[in-house]
Amino acid sequence: MAVININEAKKNIEQVGFLDIDVDVKLDLFKEIERLKKEKNAVILAHYYQEADIQDVADYIGDSLGLAQQAEKTKADVIVFAGVHFMAETAKILNPDKKVLLPDLKAGCSLSDSAPPHLFKKFKEQYPGHLVISYINCSAGIKALSDIICTSSNAKQIVESLPVDQKIIFAPDKNLGAYINKQTGRKMVLWDGACMVHEIFSREKITRLKIRHPQAKVIAHPECEDIVLQLADYIGSTTQLLKYTQKDDSKEYIVATETGILHQMQKDSPGKLFIPAPPDNSCACNDCPHMKLNTLEKLYLCMEYETPELLMEESLRQAALKPIRRMLDISAKLGL
Ligand code: 13P
Ligand code: SF4
Repeated sequence: MAVININEAKKNIEQVGFLDIDVDVKLDLFKEIERLKKEKNAVILAHYYQEADIQDVADYIGDSLGLAQQAEKTKADVIVFAGVHFMAETAKILNPDKKVLLPDLKAGCSLSDSAPPHLFKKFKEQYPGHLVISYINCSAGIKALSDIICTSSNAKQIVESLPVDQKIIFAPDKNLGAYINKQTGRKMVLWDGACMVHEIFSREKITRLKIRHPQAKVIAHPECEDIVLQLADYIGSTTQLLKYTQKDDSKEYIVATETGILHQMQKDSPGKLFIPAPPDNSCACNDCPHMKLNTLEKLYLCMEYETPELLMEESLRQAALKPIRRMLDISAKLGL
């Protein structure tokens, strides 16, 4: 039940994560959001896992690396982050003087949650002489304990930028870490974390689906388990998967990642068939429940009232900035 009073709703944000007020159903939210963008010099950055309407009003849609790069160079006064908490945090770390809004502060991430900083600190102490490479899907607290950040589109290059004999801890995604170990021949120590969406795919069901669609290529995100990645014709970040489907000449794809990406794939290649990879349960959806907490209504409300805003303690921000900068510098040097 929505709260009517705006002041009450603002007070309530800590509990519910968003502005819980009714939006007039007759309001043209697309038009309103365009108006607010201009009025407030705001930019909307959206991840491919956001619902289709949000992708359609965004100024930039991308994967985690692209979004961090856009956040780094934006001239807007307000960054509206249509994604999850760690992504908005990264934008704030890069832009301490800008207002960063997240439509729902409770849009978290199971992978990020799998690495609480106090436990990771103890884990790190067991491996002296190791550098820490952390996947960007982690909290600012984990970033502050890391030497370099990576994303799924530059993880291999970031690891290879270090000497072959450098001992490395990779956190928090054990699946991406294992995949990069395989790709590079390194033996990085892996933190035992995983994404709830990418761990759900069923190897058996994908195999059966391939029998019904013998021409279909399997494309997968490296957050998937190795048994699923073994079935893949192509493995990459969301942007890399999208680019692959644009250039490749197949007509059918089984897509092993969150379903939001299908919106752009279908838009860019209307003649092709994109089939979401089936999960290992009776539910037919591979939606990320965290990403999907954001809605067009919440996006409109957070822009109109400039809340919920992402705030961060300055010492934490500075500590988390160093490894992000290192990633962005290496990526820029390599033209990624
Ligand atoms: P990329 O954005 O690097 O493809 O990662 C996907 C993801 O899980 C984001 O939460
Ligand atoms: Fe986190 Fe997985 Fe959702 Fe991405 S898809 S935000 S890694 S839970």
